[in-house]
Amino acid sequence: AYYQEAYRPQFHFTPEEKWMNDPNGLVYHKGVYHLFYQYYPDDTVWGPMHWGHAVSKDMIHWDHKPIALFPDEHGYIFSGSAVVDENNTSGFGSKDNPALVAIYTYHLIEGEKAGKNDFQTQGIAYSLDNGDTWIKYEGNPVIPNKGVKDFRDPKVFWNDKVDKWTMLLVAGDHLQIWESPNLIDWQYKSEFGRNQGAHGGVWECPDLFSFKVEGTDEVKWVLLISINPGAPNGGSGTQYFIGDFDGTTFTSDQKDERWIDLGRDNYAGVTYNNVPSNERIFIGWMSNWDYARDTPTEKWRSAMTLPRKLSLQKTGDSYELFNYPLKGFDDLLEKEPARNLTVASQGVSEIPFENYNQSDLQFRTGESLFELTYKNSLEEQVVINVDRTTMTMTLNRANSGKTDFHESFADPLQKMKLPNLPEGEVGFRIIMDSSSIEIFVNGGQYAMTSQLFPNENYNALEIKNMDQKEMTINDFQLSKVKSIW
Ligand code: FRU
Repeated sequence: AYYQEAYRPQFHFTPEEKWMNDPNGLVYHKGVYHLFYQYYPDDTVWGPMHWGHAVSKDMIHWDHKPIALFPDEHGYIFSGSAVVDENNTSGFGSKDNPALVAIYTYHLIEGEKAGKNDFQTQGIAYSLDNGDTWIKYEGNPVIPNKGVKDFRDPKVFWNDKVDKWTMLLVAGDHLQIWESPNLIDWQYKSEFGRNQGAHGGVWECPDLFSFKVEGTDEVKWVLLISINPGAPNGGSGTQYFIGDFDGTTFTSDQKDERWIDLGRDNYAGVTYNNVPSNERIFIGWMSNWDYARDTPTEKWRSAMTLPRKLSLQKTGDSYELFNYPLKGFDDLLEKEPARNLTVASQGVSEIPFENYNQSDLQFRTGESLFELTYKNSLEEQVVINVDRTTMTMTLNRANSGKTDFHESFADPLQKMKLPNLPEGEVGFRIIMDSSSIEIFVNGGQYAMTSQLFPNENYNALEIKNMDQKEMTINDFQLSKVKSIW
């Protein structure tokens, strides 16, 4: 049967075989959501990068397509973005048939091996048949390198404020903003971040977009920056900044570090260009460079997160970026009726379920101290602890199943602060696939994504009330999630 291998996700995107990392070129065009991705077709570990390709009409079900971009004399094809050149500014297409243009980094391995620092340049390619075949621009690279060792991951979008294309590019410890009338000729404009945000590693995979803050008329801009290493729970992670963008320069008005997801396995995430509903939709790579090459799958390696809708909401004096699975995902749920439960003080309630490794659990509670444990008959378990008195949630996968493929997988305990939750009852949602867990608190105000490799599916959930009073759980709803394949 199709996609029945051990740990093969049933409702997350994975390549049919071999190695995958970052999502690339997320763009909607002519009824189709494209997902390109960093891909090495010859092995299940990282190697000479290509752009793999898949398409979807709903971002839930995916069809695999042939490889879109192959390495060439300028190098491997690293991460980047794609746009629809509606006005034919590049001249690659026509008004009637606008080109899809991919903007990506070339990584010249010979240069890297020779110890040079100018081996990453930016190139472009275009497609006139909605992404099926690609033509590389003969004048590549369109942005050469003047000696910046890490110089990559172009995110391009049409910028109404200047009527030009804007490119975000990362250069080691900062972001650069470039501009072009035609996607070919680029001019450097500004930089951001040498002294702001987290700097425990190299900056990667930038993205920038605006929101109307929910419930207000205020517009704010959000900058995403992935860094590796240097994430709060170790290895790779994605931070964000909230601020303003005047068309050429980004300024942040934020004082603390913010992270889109505090789990160990949500990296290099970026958002779609050109979405017809104007929603901001994010997909991340569900792994961590600490151990990405070592996870115990055989035929393929790694998955994407569920596509998540981003929104900006004001809580007290601060703004917060929410991320939450798309509404359309609910179509995959075989819902059981919602029920209300109580758990006695210091008591435990156990809820059996055929296969938690294909489940969606939603409930609301105002309880301040409780623990959820998913377990199987091998006594493997994953433990989520919520302590609203210290405003902390933790995820413990130390005894979750296979963990010894890399020394850094089991530890550390993954910790997440919950500083700005509303008082009282809060919603929790936990989505578990065969090798991942995604946890959303209060509709995505806080999120945690993590890989898991149990030797047997989890088939029981324990809810432990560690408080002095009875725990009330409202609208507890457990659903089987249908396979998308
Ligand atoms: C992020 C990243 C990017 C780079 C790509 C290479 O995970 O390191 O910065 O373009 O992966 O595969």
